[in-house]
Amino acid sequence: MTRKILVTSALPYANGAIHLGHLVEYIQTDIWVRFQKMRGHVCWYVCADDTHGTPVMLRAEKEGVTPEQLIERVHDEHARDFAGFGVNFDNYHSTHSPETRAFCELFYQRLKAEKLIEARCIEQFYDPVKAMFLPDRFIKGECPKCGAADQYGDNCEACGAAYAPTELKNPYSAVSGAKPELRHSEHYFFRLSDSRCEAFLRQYASRASGRLQPEAANKMQEWLGEAGEHRLTDWDISRDAPYFGFEIPGAPGKFFYVWLDAPIGYMGSFKNLCAKKGLDFDAYFRPDSDAELYHFIGKDILYFHALFWPAELAHAGFRTPTGIFAHGFLTVDGAKMSKSRGTFITAESYLRQGLNPEWLRYYFAGKLTNTLEDLDLNLEDFVARVNADLIGKYVNIASRAAGFLCKRFGGKLAAADASLPAIRAIVEAAPRVAQLYETREFAKAMREIMALADQSNQYVDSVKPWELAKQANKESELHLACTHCLNLFYLLTVFLKPVLPKAARQAEDFLRVAPLTWEDAGRLLPEGHVIHAYQHLMTRIDPKQVAALVEANKEGMSSAASAARAPEKPEKPEKIISIDDFMRVDLRVARVVEASAVEGAEKLVRLLLDIGEEKPRQVFAGIKSAYDPAALQGRLTIMAANLAPRKMRFGASEGMVLAASGGKDSGIYLLSPDSGAMPGMRVK
Ligand code: MSP
Ligand code: ZN
Repeated sequence: MTRKILVTSALPYANGAIHLGHLVEYIQTDIWVRFQKMRGHVCWYVCADDTHGTPVMLRAEKEGVTPEQLIERVHDEHARDFAGFGVNFDNYHSTHSPETRAFCELFYQRLKAEKLIEARCIEQFYDPVKAMFLPDRFIKGECPKCGAADQYGDNCEACGAAYAPTELKNPYSAVSGAKPELRHSEHYFFRLSDSRCEAFLRQYASRASGRLQPEAANKMQEWLGEAGEHRLTDWDISRDAPYFGFEIPGAPGKFFYVWLDAPIGYMGSFKNLCAKKGLDFDAYFRPDSDAELYHFIGKDILYFHALFWPAELAHAGFRTPTGIFAHGFLTVDGAKMSKSRGTFITAESYLRQGLNPEWLRYYFAGKLTNTLEDLDLNLEDFVARVNADLIGKYVNIASRAAGFLCKRFGGKLAAADASLPAIRAIVEAAPRVAQLYETREFAKAMREIMALADQSNQYVDSVKPWELAKQANKESELHLACTHCLNLFYLLTVFLKPVLPKAARQAEDFLRVAPLTWEDAGRLLPEGHVIHAYQHLMTRIDPKQVAALVEANKEGMSSAASAARAPEKPEKPEKIISIDDFMRVDLRVARVVEASAVEGAEKLVRLLLDIGEEKPRQVFAGIKSAYDPAALQGRLTIMAANLAPRKMRFGASEGMVLAASGGKDSGIYLLSPDSGAMPGMRVK
């Protein structure tokens, strides 16, 4: 029976780069989707950028661009990174889209008609300098429990306490530094506490329903409490202007909270795909749809997906998710990813260092289970595992036989013996491996596949094609042995194809077969089939490449201010000058339009700086040791604009950027203005 399946991954925020932690999820989902497609099911994989909210708004402001410009640029970066890792969305859309807006308004109308929306006046911190209400994460102060300084408005990183921002001592705005005031404002709430929502969720998320993983179902029980406890509280779905998002119809100055429109973005992206492909959207979203709907998410956003989202869908007249699949968090070498250690590795840097994305896909597959447990990327183990399994076991089977087959037999295969134990083992494993993929037990699937590869290699070792090749009268034995090797490799490729799509495609070319489907795991290459000359499928990882990757991510961290150490002996202030002397230096806010390395100059970065003039200025800055050029693009800094241009080997330097430094080895820290400053503004 052909299934109709719609699959999503969480929508990454449009204010940051994709990193290896994100990739756990997108690779996990992509493997599952590729598997379903190989099985012949109709399976659509959609995603989008999560574009709204205060952080996006403030970051755009800081970079001196509009939010629309920022999200467009980030959309391209995200799409490029995902494509680089073979994550094959059928559609990669944006929540800032007409489709998502229309659905938001529809949800709002329908929930309102159901009397599940309520307006209520609340008190919230307001930044009088910035003239905006402050989200919890943008208020800092002293922890009310332990007194630690500079803690966020929702919880303390020192003692772990959770609290309301109003409980902070000496609160200040993280945006402007101003002392926040409490102000009243009317907000809209989704009435999750309504008995209809609670009754629905109890049944929807019950362990028996099988929609949630056991650990997730337990969490839900905790959130729901016992019947009669009424633990669920209403959910604030509106924010006040200024806000980057969709304005609420009939409520000027009020916007839908980003977490309201984000999951609706799944539908927006699918709707957009339906229009492109002529698909029937309603067949997937009407309440009695026979299509399956799955959301892959990280465990940190379970609350939004298992509580709010199904309750919204159910009461707005749509179907609810068939399953919600949460995964754990990625650690690197046993610890949280860290910018100062260089383990906060971006997708872009991985690709730019020339590492093969399929190495990571395989390593993650080898670690992924269907539970919420965290997984670790151990960098040493990464090298060892990939080299041993992919090169030593899988690729090896083909490379040891293909040469003989081409040179001695014109690439033509003999008749393989289907009862050969190594071949039979693979054919018989197919349903088991399929079941492991289906249930997202990828680590178990990889183990099973590698055990089969071991058995295949034992066969190669037992027949020793390289020895048969030296003997005069062993032509037909050699031919048969090589034929078996190629068939073993062919069958293993079917199993690995969801994880290694690029290698599988090369293997298909080399074996001269049509794109492999799961059914191919039950057949052999026919006698007389001719293959192409062998081309190497994959190289080994050199541990040096991994070391370089970590190094690159250390350098790239411009904001490693916390890692900065104060200079041991502060430099004495220079001799006194008059204010007129000072004013002679024309300092300007500058935006980095472009930043690139300079060939032949290890320390220099070439910057193109926008200071509001017609043409950007070119400046060479000796900051390469502290900054990855790519990380500088778009940011604001301060430049001295009236220095005499200096001729350098690479061209003229038309100014200087300002950076702090405490002398040898203390690092270099580019200055940046507070948010709101615009390119060209004078600094004095
Ligand atoms: N924008 C929200 C999701 C909205 S879905 C309607 C969001 N974005 S995110 O960029 O922070 O994260 C995207 C996904 O990546 C989430 O599922 C998150 O759990 C996952 N991960 C982010 N960092 C991760 C790790 N270090 N490890 C594993 N997954 C991680 O949340
Ligand atoms: Zn504390």
